[in-house]
Amino acid sequence: MPHVSLRPVQRRDLAWMVAMAADRDAVGEHNWSGPIDPDEVLGRLHHQFQCDGFLAPRGGRLVVEVDGEPIGDVSWRPEQWGPSPGSECPAIGIALLPQHRGKGYGTIAQRLLVDHLFREYGVHRVQSDTAMDNPAEQRALEKAGFTREGVVRDAEERDGEYHDHVLYGMLRTEWERSATPA
Ligand SMILES: CC(C)(COP(=O)(O)OP(=O)(O)OC[C@H]1O[C@@H](n2cnc3c(N)ncnc32)[C@H](O)[C@@H]1OP(=O)(O)O)[C@@H](O)C(=O)NCCC(=O)NCCS
Repeated sequence: MPHVSLRPVQRRDLAWMVAMAADRDAVGEHNWSGPIDPDEVLGRLHHQFQCDGFLAPRGGRLVVEVDGEPIGDVSWRPEQWGPSPGSECPAIGIALLPQHRGKGYGTIAQRLLVDHLFREYGVHRVQSDTAMDNPAEQRALEKAGFTREGVVRDAEERDGEYHDHVLYGMLRTEWERSATPA
C-alpha cells in the first residue's frame, strides 16, 4: 500500500490548489460552488498562507500526499452548536484528484486529520457532513471511524436543487479508544 501522509501547505501548493478549485471534475461535484475568479482565490490563499500557514485551530488545511506526491487536501472550519466556547468543534472536508479516488486514500487522510485535530487542538468532538448522494464520502467517513448521527434535510443548494446531508461525528473518547500511538 502506498504511503499516505498529511503535510502543511507550502507556497508552491497555492497554484495547483487554485487550478483544482476552478475545475468541477478536479474538486468534485460535491465541493463545487460555481466558477471562481482564479486571481481572487489565489490572493485569498496567499493572504491566509501569510497569516497562519493554514494551521489555526479554528480553520486550516493540510496537503494529502501519496508517496510524496500531492493528490489533494483536507481542511477544517469551526462549527458552533451552542454559545459556550466548548460548544465549538471542527468540521472537516476533503477533495482528492479524480485519478486518486477509490483507492482508500480518502479514508486514511481523514483519519490522519482526525488524529491531528484531537492531538494538537484538544477538541472534544470532530464532525463532518456530506451529501446524501455522495456514498463514497459517507463510506470513507465510516471507515475512518465516524458515527452516522442523522440527516439534515435540504441542507445544501446545488445546481438549483436542495440536497439532504448526512452528519457524522467522532468524540474524543471514541478516538482515544481507537487511536494509534503518536
Ligand atoms: C469522497 C472522497 C474523499 C473519498 O475518498 P476515496 O479515497 O475515494 O475513498 P476510499 O477509497 O477511502 O473509500 C471509498 C468507499 O466508498 C465506496 N464507494 C465508492 N463509490 C460508491 C458508491 N457509488 N456507492 C457505494 N459505495 C461507494 C468504496 O467502495 C469504498 O468503500 P470500501 O472500501 O468499503 O469498498 C474522494 O472520492 C473525493 O475526493 N471525492 C471528490 C470530493 C468529495 O466528494 N469530497 C467530499 C465532499 S463532502
